[in-house]
Amino acid sequence: MTGETLPTPPIWMMRQAGRYLPEYKATRAQAGDFLSLCYNPDLAAEVTLQPIRRYRFDAAILFADILLVPQALGADLWFVTGEGPRLSTITTAEDFAKLKPADAIHDHLAPVYETVKILARELPDQTTLIGFAGAPWTVATYMIAGQGTPDQGPAHALKAENRAVFDALIDRITEASIAYLSMQISAGAEVVKLFDSWAGSLQDADFVEYSIKPMQRITAALKALHPDTPVIAFPRGAGTRYAGAHAATGADCIAVDDGVTAEWAAANLQTGGCVQGNLKSSHMVSGGADLVSETRRIVKAFSQGPHIFNLGHGITPDADPENVQLMIDTIRNGG
Ligand code: CP3
Repeated sequence: MTGETLPTPPIWMMRQAGRYLPEYKATRAQAGDFLSLCYNPDLAAEVTLQPIRRYRFDAAILFADILLVPQALGADLWFVTGEGPRLSTITTAEDFAKLKPADAIHDHLAPVYETVKILARELPDQTTLIGFAGAPWTVATYMIAGQGTPDQGPAHALKAENRAVFDALIDRITEASIAYLSMQISAGAEVVKLFDSWAGSLQDADFVEYSIKPMQRITAALKALHPDTPVIAFPRGAGTRYAGAHAATGADCIAVDDGVTAEWAAANLQTGGCVQGNLKSSHMVSGGADLVSETRRIVKAFSQGPHIFNLGHGITPDADPENVQLMIDTIRNGG
């Protein structure tokens, strides 16, 4: 992931360790539940390694979750089966005042750093280890609403009604993310990624202020501490605002969802540096000739510059593991 243009792009997938794999489900059952799996370094390392063994991906992504940072800051966090995450909410200055300072997160997150250390030891030399955190806006949307929301309404409402608390929360998450990612790099992460999954709902100046700027701040702070560690930024749903994202964020690589075509991204984004994406995750469910032709189209569109093959968003639990192999064979065997 050093920005070279390669004849065959390196490959990994968002959520590559996940419920579409029977071996993941077995290890998760052994851990008891999702959060116990995240905080068990041996089992979290095991599920990180499962897709590497099965598919020989070029990169492994640390198994954890973006919501471990809010928990380390003092929020309650639990997962409701079939529904998703739930957190205690931050909507007032009093709620915010109860959060811990950014430098107090490390005891809680020590098992994650241990997982990174195990992986740095156990991964094959040629497999890159990716650490990650949620970007501040996306993490804030969960901390404010206490759950996932279709339009991030509660976070937009707090931004409009109590800008001081909203800004303080963004700053706290930004500082915690710098501390967290720096520790992941010290423990052995070779690349780090910022997931701004809900960037698309930020309009106009807010997009710059709350998606781009916090990611830029985190990237700059990490570059000062770890100048050789590449950063990937994922402002999902940015649309035409992807143009110029390398310069705006300072990230080495920009992850692209499936809301823009690979041809558009090659012309308007890849000119600034490495890109990663953007196959629709639904092809991992449907497979067949469309999967093959779309995979080829993306490889071709991005072939003139640095590209890492990936999906536009995470692989879903209903995906067929054989379709992942078909995608990989299409890329590695040239078709
Ligand atoms: O990509 C990977 O394989 C690494 C691990 C990883 C997970 N979550 C594991 C996970 C990563 C990088 C994430 C990021 C994450 N988590 C994001 C940003 C990326 C995105 O998908 O937009 C977000 C928004 C979250 C928060 C989160 N975690 C939600 C909303 C959910 C529930 C939805 C779901 O898919 O069930 C989770 C749970 C979660 N995180 C699972 C996994 C494998 C499924 C949990 C299970 O095993 O039941």
